[in-house]
Amino acid sequence: MTRILITGASGLLGINLAQEMMTQHEIIGVDRGKLINAPFKVLKADLSNSRSMDSILDAEQPAWLINCAALADLEACEHDPDSARRLNIDLPAQLAKSCKARDVSFVHISTDAVFDGDKDGAYTEDDAPNPRGVYSQTKLEGENIVLSENPRALVARVNFYGWSLGGRRSLAEFFVNNLMDHKNISGFTDVIFCPMLVNDTARTLVKMLEKKLSGLYHLVGTQAMSKYQFGVEIARKFKLEEGNIAPKSVLSSSLTARRSHNLWLSTHKLSTALGGALPSFSTGLNEFYAQHQQGYPQKIRSYQQGAG
Ligand SMILES: NC(=O)c1ccc[n+]([C@@H]2O[C@H](COP(=O)([O-])OP(=O)(O)OC[C@H]3O[C@@H](n4cnc5c(N)ncnc54)[C@H](OP(=O)(O)O)[C@@H]3O)[C@@H](O)[C@H]2O)c1
Repeated sequence: MTRILITGASGLLGINLAQEMMTQHEIIGVDRGKLINAPFKVLKADLSNSRSMDSILDAEQPAWLINCAALADLEACEHDPDSARRLNIDLPAQLAKSCKARDVSFVHISTDAVFDGDKDGAYTEDDAPNPRGVYSQTKLEGENIVLSENPRALVARVNFYGWSLGGRRSLAEFFVNNLMDHKNISGFTDVIFCPMLVNDTARTLVKMLEKKLSGLYHLVGTQAMSKYQFGVEIARKFKLEEGNIAPKSVLSSSLTARRSHNLWLSTHKLSTALGGALPSFSTGLNEFYAQHQQGYPQKIRSYQQGAG
């Protein structure tokens, strides 16, 4: 059993990662006060002060620290670039240094959005990033500073979907919630990405840690599709009305943060390092549906403040 600190434990990745790991490991989550009923230890800290983790590291002495905390909302980053810099650059930089000084294995979560999307095909870890907005720029700077401060760190560029604490964080929840309410929505046909069930992301991260991988890896789904197609796949799996999803171009949306059209990432480096294929899209979607049928979303939501 390994003692693992997870920052951003209330987030979409953090809560599912803790949920996946807690059966075999000792989990200590760090959050700002949302988690009151979690089935693992939770410490409260505001991470906009990047040194606030030092005393926690000294007191808890984890073997691993997985940094899932971020300002991960693209629009929020455009409106508040200072906070984006604090959370997406200064915090991981400090965590990388602090973990190195204490011999704690450090994992930092980055994003598929560091690329401009102009490539015809899948991006590898060797392709040059070219971020398009504040979120992706700060995430790229975060990656670079982590790996220069702590070359033994592991940086994973991810994209995932799943059930979140608030019930509205992931794109998949957006489709499920609206289609269940019989609402008409749209899905972008010109944004290609590689969605992975967040529980698959969590389980793969554990394997990467157990293999003691370090450096930069793409950890995304193995199937590239448009956001519209993703919505259709969810509608079909949940037997909801796919006709309620209108195909739409991201160029006609009211979103202000610039987005790449192509977020197709190759996972060849990671599957080679792990010695086997990553989970498929269809097994992830089947599990996402099974979780819904088995009350997993309600279980996750019951961990938060104000849950009935
Ligand atoms: N969702 C995706 O598909 C996706 C795609 C690409 C990359 N990523 C990356 O994956 C990682 C996790 O993303 P996510 O979707 O799980 O994000 P999320 O749901 O927005 O979670 C972010 C976490 O950071 C915490 N946080 C933010 N500001 C904080 C502060 N000042 N002090 C303490 N905690 C703070 C949040 O706490 P509160 O709950 O209190 O706000 C939350 O727990 C991020 O690095 C993100 O860039 C995600």
